[in-house]
Amino acid sequence: MAKAKNTAFFCKECGFESSKWLGQCPGCRQWNTFVEEPIVKQSISGTAKSIIHRDAIPSRLSEIDIEEEERTTTGYAELDRVLGGGIVKGSLVLVGGDPGIGKSTLLLQVCRNISDTKNVLYISGEESLRQIKLRADRIGHFPDKLKLLCETNLDVIDDVIRKSMPDVVIIDSIQTMFCENVASAPGSISQVRESTTMLMQLAKGLDISIFIVGHVTKEGVVAGPRILEHMVDTVLYFEGDKNAAYRILRAVKNRFGSTNEIGVFEMTEGGLSEVSNPSEYMLDGRPDGAPGSVVACLMEGTRPMLVEIQALVCQSNFGMPRRTSAGADINRFNLLMAVLEKRIGLRLSGCDAYLNIAGGLRISEPALDLGIIYAVLSSYKNIPVDHNTILFGEVGLAGEVRAVSHAAVRVNEAVKLGFTTCILPEVCLKNIKTDGKIRLVGIKTVNQLMDEIGG
Ligand code: TYD
Ligand code: MG
Repeated sequence: MAKAKNTAFFCKECGFESSKWLGQCPGCRQWNTFVEEPIVKQSISGTAKSIIHRDAIPSRLSEIDIEEEERTTTGYAELDRVLGGGIVKGSLVLVGGDPGIGKSTLLLQVCRNISDTKNVLYISGEESLRQIKLRADRIGHFPDKLKLLCETNLDVIDDVIRKSMPDVVIIDSIQTMFCENVASAPGSISQVRESTTMLMQLAKGLDISIFIVGHVTKEGVVAGPRILEHMVDTVLYFEGDKNAAYRILRAVKNRFGSTNEIGVFEMTEGGLSEVSNPSEYMLDGRPDGAPGSVVACLMEGTRPMLVEIQALVCQSNFGMPRRTSAGADINRFNLLMAVLEKRIGLRLSGCDAYLNIAGGLRISEPALDLGIIYAVLSSYKNIPVDHNTILFGEVGLAGEVRAVSHAAVRVNEAVKLGFTTCILPEVCLKNIKTDGKIRLVGIKTVNQLMDEIGG
């Protein structure tokens, strides 16, 4: 009789399980992501099992109490908004991001803010107590009530949590944690999955809010937190250029709020600080009178944000002109270049064109189209755009300028920051009242931009 196999192959990206090695994962279509790992025999750890509620009684919809969940503010309006209004009791939140982006710093600062009123336990498997203390000293004053623990064994952590019953627990990071009943190394898919299951049982069973830190590596050396995304309530990604000071916190999944919201932070000498007016921040250092630089307004969730779009169009020395885009979709950029070529008659086929969204933001909103077109036009004609002009609108293939949502909110943001002219889709004009604070220019087609730029 064939011996029962006690290993299986798992996809590093999505956790797909297979009895044999596969070149391409059927789950996520990634190549060369399968690794061999021992099979977990006991899928729910014994301790966790005991707290699962056994009283399964179906309820009627009308009987369900829809009182607001109890939420605790994190002390940061930016983070609260991304979480959907604060920390929900009994929720499991994954904070993902590249190593060194500031996840530990952010969570340590949250601990500082809430440990006066809440019982907080910060568990680190990455840094020693001394290292955490040094970091805390950089950040500033910490209340004495905050408890720290350096531990990677989840069975021990489970005991500590049950004994001390904290309100909020931070696990930094999930890739360093291990359960004794899983044979594979910490950071492997089975360990990460089992550890998260255990933490989920703790969060739900004891009504504790748990934050899990998860590293993302491009090479997928450690199990990417992708497989955790299904298991947790909320997934936040902390992103940004490590070399730039600002960081963006984005909700990718949220069972307790919208996923459109972002929070903006800045990394300073003394830790992370909130950026409550990102528009001002993003426009800082904008060149005056430089052709190819325009300001566009986009929406991040319910919040308007102004960004600078830069385009550089120059004569190409090769047969194949170069087109690159940093921050916006390159295909969209190519499409808009084609619209300019066909509808306005610019001879772009012999030109290299570079597009850049200043500040390193990545944007996919179509409302940016008009800004991109205007920036290319300005650079091509070498005419600077008026410093106090802002624009937004979607552009179609026929060169028509189409409506976008939240036009009034966008215009208000422009007024707030002192812009005096706003170019927008004509159809958006009817709902906007400005009291003459800003000149509104409604346009129907991209050709009308030519009159504005004066070329
Ligand atoms: P960290 O929170 O350790 O990142 P992660 O947990 O995501 O791996 O952040 C580390 C970086 O932040 C490190 O490069 C140093 C920088 N930093 C500051 O610039 N100022 C500070 O006050 C602190 C605490 C960190
Ligand atoms: Mg860290």
